[in-house]
Amino acid sequence: MKRFLFPLSFCISISILSCSDSTPVTPEPINIIPEPVSVQAQEGVLKIKKSISISLPEDISSHLNAYVNEVLSKSYGLSTTKGSTASAQLQFELKEGMTGITPYELVISDQAAKIIAGEEKGLFYGFQTFLQLFPAEKRDVYGLPAVNIQDHAQFEYRGLHLDVSRHFFGLDFIKKYIDLLAYHKFSKFHWHLTDDQGWRIEIKKYPELTDTGAYRNGTVIGRYPGTGNDNTRYGGYYTHEQVKEVLAYAASRYIEVIPEIELPGHASAAIAAYPELSCFPQQPTVIEQNMSEGSRQQQAAGRIKVVQETWGVFDDVFCAGKESTFEFLENVLAEVAELFPSKYLHIGGDECPKTHWKKCAACQKRMKENGLKDEHELQSYFVTRIEKFLNQKGKTIIGWDEILEGGLAPNAIVMSWRGQEGGRAAARMQHFAIMTPTSHSYLDYNQTEKEDSVTIGGFISLEKVYNYIPVPDSLSEAQAKFIMGGQGNVWTEYMHYPSKVEYMVYPRATALSEVLWSTKKDYKRFLEKMNTQYKRYGLWSVNAFPAQKLN
Ligand code: ACM
Ligand code: ZN
Repeated sequence: MKRFLFPLSFCISISILSCSDSTPVTPEPINIIPEPVSVQAQEGVLKIKKSISISLPEDISSHLNAYVNEVLSKSYGLSTTKGSTASAQLQFELKEGMTGITPYELVISDQAAKIIAGEEKGLFYGFQTFLQLFPAEKRDVYGLPAVNIQDHAQFEYRGLHLDVSRHFFGLDFIKKYIDLLAYHKFSKFHWHLTDDQGWRIEIKKYPELTDTGAYRNGTVIGRYPGTGNDNTRYGGYYTHEQVKEVLAYAASRYIEVIPEIELPGHASAAIAAYPELSCFPQQPTVIEQNMSEGSRQQQAAGRIKVVQETWGVFDDVFCAGKESTFEFLENVLAEVAELFPSKYLHIGGDECPKTHWKKCAACQKRMKENGLKDEHELQSYFVTRIEKFLNQKGKTIIGWDEILEGGLAPNAIVMSWRGQEGGRAAARMQHFAIMTPTSHSYLDYNQTEKEDSVTIGGFISLEKVYNYIPVPDSLSEAQAKFIMGGQGNVWTEYMHYPSKVEYMVYPRATALSEVLWSTKKDYKRFLEKMNTQYKRYGLWSVNAFPAQKLN
């Protein structure tokens, strides 16, 4: 029996095809998203049948080991073994001296696959690329193309945001959202945890923030200003334990979670919980149209501050004059800073009307005492004071581009959303910036001109997202280095359920992943790859916007 002439270990290291099963298998096409720096197809195919041996460096994190084993078995039905016992092998190796942002190499021959990287995160990215060489379905035998891939990211900050205030999403969906980020090699999850319509994170020192602030009495029906109110109590929040669970899940997928605590605007939920945070605790919350029955009754009974139940920008913001506001915010932020390991903390800063500050004696006194010439400077005072507090806790603040108005806090990072200008201005001032302009990055906008579900409106096609260039023109090479990357924003006024979030976010977030990872631009080729990506959406159970409806 000829096949027993070779010792088994020799068989494995020489050729899988010649040892176990010589039935030819066609290699899968190469359709990797985001596009790697260099892909060199080679002759040959790595055949994987039923099992695969994994060899990881000794001191690797147990979560990477667990992830690799779990994905290969759950998604592809492969049993995994250690060392070199199975017919096909996947080897991971850490190597010093590689250059670029999280570089990795993936080499597949007809004998084995090898991922080499400078750090664990690179090994993880290499593994994601490896997975994309599988078909998007379980098979008895897989044929992976022989290939040499060299890769690294263009930008360090590759983010996706999720607003959990307008609508709340449970842990299962947050984890799925993070999984999808990982498949696309995103690096940051921006978790928008507080806003007018609900406070979503437990703060132990201030239980009313969630007992009261996490629930609204109803929600406006339909597109703003709406056709009525559903009069249904709505809400939810994450406990510290749940936040820790999300953080551990994200860390095991090399995703950094950046919490956002909105200030000084978008504060209605906090004010409903603690009315003295407002300039005018005695003035009822204004809901101009379609107020719920519950809120009417609550206000009639004397509890005049309510969590917002319609969408927009509201005048009732944190009072910048009272010391007690800063004491409250510092206590809140101290808990948040302690909970989240990220060095970044997003403090909001957008859409803060100055109407109350103009009329508030305490705010006006604060301005006079500090020589502030207008309310924009008062906002700058507010943000700078919060920045100082957070810098002492080892955190760098990120804020929406309004934090430029009235003077930028000394170490702040600007998240440019009202176009590119905020990012450009920040970079010129040698401040870091993250690009999330409404022109290209707002994934709550329609993706076709004929959208038939209720959305916030607007129109940003897949192609428009794909063609985005995050570094604004007219920056010098030195200034361009201050552009850390970009992010897609997902505001959820009109996304009541996870399936609607997925419908709005994908496939555009897939295009964005390529914008932020790769320097290449080839929309035609990207669309070809999308045929495979839609099959992957199926594998991942993602309710992506249907390909046939994209125009
Ligand atoms: C924003 O969209 N208000 C940052
Ligand atoms: Zn005030």
